[in-house]
Amino acid sequence: MSEMNFRAPQRARRTTESHARKPSESSSTAPRDASFASQATASSGGPAEGERYSVVGEHARGGLGRILEAADLRLKRSVALKELLRPDEDEEARFMREALIIARLQHPAIIPIQDVGRWPSGKPYYAMKLVSGRSLAELIEEKKSVRERLALLPNIIAVSDAMAYAHSQRIIHRDLNPANVLIGPFGETVVIDWGLAADLSNPSGSPVPPRKSVSAGDGAGPRLTIEGAVLGTAEYMPLEQAQGREVDERADVYALGAMLYHLLAGVPPYDGENSAAIMEKVIQGPPIALERQQRGLPDELNTIVRKAMAREARDRYSTAKELAEDLKRFQTGQLVSTHAYTSWALARRWTRRNRSEPERAPAYSSPLVAGPGSHRLDCLAEEVSDRRRRLEIASRNCGRSAT
Ligand SMILES: Nc1ncnc2c1ncn2[C@@H]1O[C@H](COP(=O)(O)OP(=O)(O)O)[C@@H](O)[C@H]1O
Ligand SMILES: [Mg+2]
Repeated sequence: MSEMNFRAPQRARRTTESHARKPSESSSTAPRDASFASQATASSGGPAEGERYSVVGEHARGGLGRILEAADLRLKRSVALKELLRPDEDEEARFMREALIIARLQHPAIIPIQDVGRWPSGKPYYAMKLVSGRSLAELIEEKKSVRERLALLPNIIAVSDAMAYAHSQRIIHRDLNPANVLIGPFGETVVIDWGLAADLSNPSGSPVPPRKSVSAGDGAGPRLTIEGAVLGTAEYMPLEQAQGREVDERADVYALGAMLYHLLAGVPPYDGENSAAIMEKVIQGPPIALERQQRGLPDELNTIVRKAMAREARDRYSTAKELAEDLKRFQTGQLVSTHAYTSWALARRWTRRNRSEPERAPAYSSPLVAGPGSHRLDCLAEEVSDRRRRLEIASRNCGRSAT
């Protein structure tokens, strides 16, 4: 891929305005928003190129880059600036591809990029929306029960929708994991970190593995792994990716299934001391079945996860769109396309739908009750109480016939 033209570094002009600070000069004690008023004057037409951002401090760190919170002095708002931790030629080329791929993707659940540039030192950065929420990884960690975690199902659906759109543009992410999904304070879902994304319509423009090996993370979330030909995050990596084979949309489908597994089970499908150990397990065999990790889940959800995480790519949903559609069918109480319903289950669904309103009232309400269909957990509770009723009747009948 040709070199991306970041703006040439500009020398700071002499000005009466305060100069933007380089990251190395950033101070986490600087006021977060005060800089807008004090550093940009309307009469001057705004800050010059190269002085546009005033860095407030480091916001977060990933395996390859760090995110700075900064004030955009021109548009007078907070932004996130991403820059590389260990810039070199390969990393910069990768970083530039990341910026271009994000710029191509226009979707409400995909982080919007706003600007690219270089610091006076020559180090590249790009500016994007600052998401003030938390990562899906943190939210899953904090929820104690499966019911609480299930309330995050709409966020997984939003990620699947975003990936359905990206796949329609022939872009695959290749590093979907709960740390790369941010959830804003109003539930908005944003997929970030497109550093390993590949453009299937232009394979030569896709990131190549770096010469060195990297296995990094902040300790809390999953670790990014780059070893030899393998790129990605081991816990959510399909077999073909762990083996360093070519991947397509179905690698993202697997990762979405693995995120769903993590959400439902409360633990990722695989664990291990380090990325290499986890990848070894991925190669050896499937994870513990979801229904054994978390009992009592609706069968349809088990089926969806099993299908999305199939070891062979040809057995998975072929795109994120199909997975998103099945998840939405589940959420709205429709028949899930991949699930084989028994005639008993179908009859029960029919009976439930045709009961009068008071009879249909769920045993307890679920945060996922959405519109016309009630959530499967409600059905589960109903089924349990139905079975109990039938057992009582059966044992009463037995007692009568014994006397
Ligand atoms: N736009 C953003 N707004 C807020 N936080 C962000 C944003 N982008 C990334 N982060 C935070 O920074 C961390 C590292 O960013 P990421 O792009 O994943 O870097 P890396 O490529 O090194 O993994 C993320 O896990 C997230 O917590
Ligand atoms: Mg990341």
